[in-house]
Amino acid sequence: MRAFRKVQSMAGLPAAFALAGLLAAGAGAQENDDFHLGEIEYEISCLSCHGIDGRGDGPDAAHLDKKPADLTSIARANGGVFPTERLALVIDGRDLVAAHGAREMPVWGERYRVPVPGVEGEFDFEADARAKIDALVRYIEGLQE
Ligand code: HEC
Repeated sequence: MRAFRKVQSMAGLPAAFALAGLLAAGAGAQENDDFHLGEIEYEISCLSCHGIDGRGDGPDAAHLDKKPADLTSIARANGGVFPTERLALVIDGRDLVAAHGAREMPVWGERYRVPVPGVEGEFDFEADARAKIDALVRYIEGLQE
């Protein structure tokens, strides 16, 4: 909606400015896509444990030994700074599991790379996993209080 208004306001300006407006609208759409990807992925993969608002009170939380992390206070716990890099590593999990042994939180870096029969070789699972994890990190950033 914001991007749409931007394009409308460009209507009377020379072509070069209109083009800049269209590019800005494109960038806005890209951001929305990222947010949606993160939101959808969160609902599919994370909500069951971390809960609809990210507070760690999802329906499966009761079956775990460890309470799922409250994802709304990550920045507060880190001196007000949202730790983007660390979070991507925590969600991916492959490095951390190698260092600390088992954890209750699934290792998404492995899950997202499970090859789909017949697709392997044509599809870049590494890039897809990274895109999902980046989108999730941005989604969680939006949950901060
Ligand atoms: C099976 C339940 C479960 C699911 C599903 C799950 N988590 Fe977790 N998560 C946990 C638990 C339990 C912890 C606490 C740390 C541990 O396991 O050692 C945790 C911790 C975290 C942390 C660490 C927070 C911090 O400050 O270090 C992040 C980030 C996180 N989860 C994100 C996610 C995301 C994103 C998804 C979905 C892709 C997800 N979790 C799915 C159970 C789950």
